[in-house]
Amino acid sequence: MFSTRFTETFGIDHPLVCGGMTAVGTADLVGAVANAGALGFLTALTQPTPEALAAEIVRCRDITDQPFGVNLTILPTITPVPYDEYRDVIIDMGITIVETAGGNPAPHLPRFHAAGVKVIHKAVSVRHARKAEQLGVDAVSIDGFECAGHPGGDDIPGLVLIPAAAKVLDVPVIASGGIATGAGLVAALALGADAVNMGTRFMATTEAPIHENVKRQIVANSELDTQIVFREFGNTARVARNTVSVEIAQISGHEGATFDDVAHLASGARARANVYGEGDVEGGMWWASQAQGLIDDVADCATVVHDIIAEAQSIVAERLPGFLAPQPATTA
Ligand SMILES: Cc1cc2nc3c(=O)[nH]c(=O)nc-3n(C[C@H](O)[C@H](O)[C@H](O)COP(=O)(O)O)c2cc1C
Repeated sequence: MFSTRFTETFGIDHPLVCGGMTAVGTADLVGAVANAGALGFLTALTQPTPEALAAEIVRCRDITDQPFGVNLTILPTITPVPYDEYRDVIIDMGITIVETAGGNPAPHLPRFHAAGVKVIHKAVSVRHARKAEQLGVDAVSIDGFECAGHPGGDDIPGLVLIPAAAKVLDVPVIASGGIATGAGLVAALALGADAVNMGTRFMATTEAPIHENVKRQIVANSELDTQIVFREFGNTARVARNTVSVEIAQISGHEGATFDDVAHLASGARARANVYGEGDVEGGMWWASQAQGLIDDVADCATVVHDIIAEAQSIVAERLPGFLAPQPATTA
């Protein structure tokens, strides 16, 4: 067992988090993550309405009696999202941990804190992490350039971003991006983090509500199999490399291209139907990180969590002490 500021602050057995994942972070996965002793986040906006989120929280509680949280991703959208109503459902349903991401969590913090909800804000730069801490969040999740999703525009990998953030933050730090193993956990702890957050590793689990073909493709893929898209539109994202994401990158590179030129290819509905639903891994744009190069099996969440913790313990207890040179004998 590891005991860190994360495990103490949030009352979770292991310093492992499954971050919010649109279309993947449902009760099936999050309940299994919680039962494995890690912290999972239902993704609020995967549910079409605040009422549906309430029902999903009930479904997750049927699967686990362990703590779990809800991710609230705040992004500009064409159709306005009733963020306040999602927030109020989170509070009314008695959720005690929230992961915010995307935009500024400030409008929601007073209500969350008044209700006793702890807020972890996911940031992709040291300056945004510091800003979140100043706003009063309870922990910061810091996503390095390796990550799936939106790594921001600075392109700073975790090896630098994690210690740079840990150096200036007082709140617990959760490291994410490209982590899938016990070695990654130990490395993150060594860099000053108190826990790690993983997305792609938890996609390749038996409980993730996506087609088997996607899980098998993650195992088959290497660290090279990602594609950066949307950089030209100021919204850099890392997704799995396939014919669709490569085509998006090509079209986006044309002079004068706009998001409208690739919207049909990048559509989340298309990925949910073709990729996650039908298992056609070339049928849409789907999200995965460089961590694909570290994932060798599809396993259940309990096994994933157990193996990561066991590997991390063995590294700390057996491998690392061996590097310490014996103390020279002191002369009287
Ligand atoms: C399929 C998928 C969907 C994701 N959707 C979201 C999301 O809706 N909101 C969010 O804050 N992060 C999202 N993420 C990012 C993850 O929460 C996490 O920060 C990231 O996956 C960490 O990097 P890793 O994949 O290398 O472990 C998503 C990641 C994946 C793989």
